[in-house]
Amino acid sequence: MADAVENKSWQDSAASGGTFRMARVTKNVRAIYFLDALKLFHETQWLYNIPVTDLLTSGVLDLFPKKWLHALQILENEELNDFVVSKRIKPEWSETLKLFVEKCRYIDQLPTINNIVEAKLPKSFQIGLSCKKQHEIMNLAHLIHMQCTSQNIKVIVDLGAGLGYICQLLHNLYGYKVLGLEKNQAIINNAQDRQAKMYPNSLAHVRYSCCNLTCASAETIETILYNEFEEKSDVCLIGLHACGDLSIDAIKIFYKMQVARIFIMVSCCYHKLSISISMQTDSLIKKQYFNNFPLSNCLKTVINNSDFDTGFFLRQPFLRLACQEPADRWCNMSVKTHNEHSFYVLARAVLQLYAAENGFSLMKQTQKGTRKSQCLNFESYVKDSLNRYILQPSKGRKEQGNIDVQSTPDIHEKNIVKLWKSHCDKLKIVEIYSGLQLMLQAAAESFILQDRLCWMEEQGLKATIIPVMNKHLSPRSYAIVSQKR
Ligand SMILES: C[S@@+](CC[C@H](N)C(=O)[O-])C[C@H]1O[C@@H](n2cnc3c(N)ncnc32)[C@H](O)[C@@H]1O
Repeated sequence: MADAVENKSWQDSAASGGTFRMARVTKNVRAIYFLDALKLFHETQWLYNIPVTDLLTSGVLDLFPKKWLHALQILENEELNDFVVSKRIKPEWSETLKLFVEKCRYIDQLPTINNIVEAKLPKSFQIGLSCKKQHEIMNLAHLIHMQCTSQNIKVIVDLGAGLGYICQLLHNLYGYKVLGLEKNQAIINNAQDRQAKMYPNSLAHVRYSCCNLTCASAETIETILYNEFEEKSDVCLIGLHACGDLSIDAIKIFYKMQVARIFIMVSCCYHKLSISISMQTDSLIKKQYFNNFPLSNCLKTVINNSDFDTGFFLRQPFLRLACQEPADRWCNMSVKTHNEHSFYVLARAVLQLYAAENGFSLMKQTQKGTRKSQCLNFESYVKDSLNRYILQPSKGRKEQGNIDVQSTPDIHEKNIVKLWKSHCDKLKIVEIYSGLQLMLQAAAESFILQDRLCWMEEQGLKATIIPVMNKHLSPRSYAIVSQKR
C-alpha cells in the first residue's frame, strides 16, 4: 500500500516537473498517509482504547472478529510470535485480518535499525549504569558526533539532561563543551556531585544549569550559554528521552534559536503530553485533546476535513500504545513467558470485574499491585492482591450482586476464585489480543513522529527519523534529526 502511494506521487511529480508541484505532491502523500492512519486507529480502537485492567468489564474481548480468533487461536507458540514480530500471514486467513496486518505495515514508516555501535564505554561510565543506559548513551553520542563533525560544531546543549550521563560522555569521548539543562534542581545537584566525584577534569567544560524549558526558552538558553562558556558559537541541541511536552518544546526552541544548527532528539512518554481539553461523554469514555498533538497543520487539516472526532480514540491510551515495548519483544518468546503474561493480565482483569460488578473500586495499598511471583496460581494471586488492594465501596454504590460492604477478605477471596473459573478459558484470547495490540505499536509511534516531522517541514526545516538503538534493549530507539541549511 505504501508503495502504491509513493508510486502515485512519483508519477504525478514526474508529469508536472515543477518543484512547487513536487512539494504539493509530498504534502498530498502525507495527507493520504495521515488519513489512512486515522482510519486504521479508528477501526482498531477496541485493541487499545481501554486500560487492559478493563478487558473484561468493558466486554472488549467480545468485539474480537470470530474469523480472526479462529485463525489465531490454533497457532503454535512460534507461529504466534512470528505473526506478531514479522507480521507473517497465511493465505487462507480472512481478508479483514490480512488487511489489518497490511495496514499496520504501511502505517509503520519507521526505518529499520542499521548502525548500532557495539563498542564498550570507558570504565568510569560503566559503573552504576544499566546495560540499557550504556547502550543508549554510547549510540546517541556516536550519532551526535557524526552530525556535529560535519558542521564543525563544538558545543552541545542537552535539553532535559537528567543526571548528565550523555553530557559527560560527549565531553569524555570527543571533547565537546556541553551545557546540561534540567528543570529539577535536586537532579542538577546530583549531576554536579557525580561530576565532581567521577569526572573532576570536566568541570570547566560540562556545565549544568537549572532551567524549566518551554517553547519560549531560546533566548534564555543563549544567555546561559554565554554565561557558562563566554562564547556565541553554533550549537547542537540534543535530548535523550525527552518526555511529554519537552520533546515538542525542544523542536520549537530549535526552530527559533539562531545559533542552534543541529537537532537530535529521542522522545519518550508520549502519554505525558499535556491535555488541553478533557470532557466526559455519554459513553464511559472521557474525550481528550492535547496541546501538542496533533502538531502539524497537515494532520490538523486532515482531521478537520474528516468525520473523525479524535477526542474519542487518539487519547492517552493511544499515546501509551505508542510508547509500549515494540513487537520485537515477542521474538522467540517462550510458552512459559506467554503463559505468565496472559495469566497476569487476565487475573488482574478478573479482580477489576469483581470490583465493578459489586460496586467497589480497587485502591492500591502499596506501590506495586502484585508480585510476579504470585502469578502461578490464582488462589495465591488473590490472597496477595487482597493484601495489596482494598475493595473500597464506590461513591453512590447501591447494593449490587449481594456482596455486603462488610464482607471479609475470605468471602471476597471465595467469590473472586469462583469468578476466575468462569473466565480462565480466555487466557489464549488475552494473549492474542496483546499480540494484535503490539502490532499496532510501531504504527502508532510512526504516526506521532511523522506528525512532528511534518511540523518541522512546514517551518522549512528538513528533518529525518534515524534509528539509533537496538529496540530489544531500548524501546524508544528513534531520533528526529535536523540540520539547518
Ligand atoms: C526521562 S528523563 C531523561 C534524562 C536524561 N536525558 C537521560 O536520558 O538520562 C527526562 C528529564 O527531563 C527533565 N525535564 C522534563 N521537562 C523538562 C523541562 N520542561 N525543562 C527542563 N527539564 C525537563 C526531567 O526532569 C527529567 O530529568
